[in-house]
Amino acid sequence: MKVVVLTGAGISAESGVPTFRDADGLWHGHRVEEVATPEAFARQPSLVHRFYDERRAALAAVAPNPAHAALARLEDRLGDDLLVVTQNIDDLHERGGSRRVVHLHGQLRSALCRGCGERFPWHDALGDGPACPRCGRRELRPDVVWFGEIPYDMDRVLAALGRADLFVSIGTSGAVQPAAGFVGYAAGQGARTLELNLVPSHGSHLFDEARHGPASELVPAWVDDLLR
Ligand code: APR
Repeated sequence: MKVVVLTGAGISAESGVPTFRDADGLWHGHRVEEVATPEAFARQPSLVHRFYDERRAALAAVAPNPAHAALARLEDRLGDDLLVVTQNIDDLHERGGSRRVVHLHGQLRSALCRGCGERFPWHDALGDGPACPRCGRRELRPDVVWFGEIPYDMDRVLAALGRADLFVSIGTSGAVQPAAGFVGYAAGQGARTLELNLVPSHGSHLFDEARHGPASELVPAWVDDLLR
């Protein structure tokens, strides 16, 4: 069985990483959509750096939860037949043991040089303008995909969705494209579709089946079922 799992902020919520659209969805009075754009970075680079620097620093205080661990357990069994596609920019899938992970929206612990185009593993702040380790220019930006930019690795994702027998969406509101369209694409290619989310997402009705509750309970239970 070939499985594609899409994850969103909800899978990391119980680890203590705030979601984007629950509660008031604000950061210091700014809507996330106003911070996470190339235009915002051009206008107020220090504000945008502060947003991502805070989130990168906060990663040190969080740990994977049983939902991340369950997906790693599933990968142990399925190997190349499981692909985890995450919209999350945290590294909790990797720290939970997953290896085959696509970060559609990039990663907090990575920096992208606007001077030479190189990407680097990055654990420190970017707001104080460090030099690029390759070209030396002070043009490093968060290696995240902002609204209006093209998500990473779409070819690999679409190929996996086209082959999938099962598509599972975990902890995402279904508010942001292209991920919100994956359920329709996978179903059109013949996959069964399942939603695991705290509450019905925007696209809940598009799934063959939906189960609602916390990811730390739903995901391990679903993996146990599948492995039985
Ligand atoms: N278990 C399962 N689901 C949960 C939990 C939980 N413990 N807590 C919250 N959720 C659900 C919420 O009900 C919501 O439907 O997770 C979803 C989180 O939705 P969003 O905050 O919109 O996050 P996401 O869908 O990942 O956002 C997509 O938007 O701002 C951009 O680039 C950003 O990657 C992000 C993208």
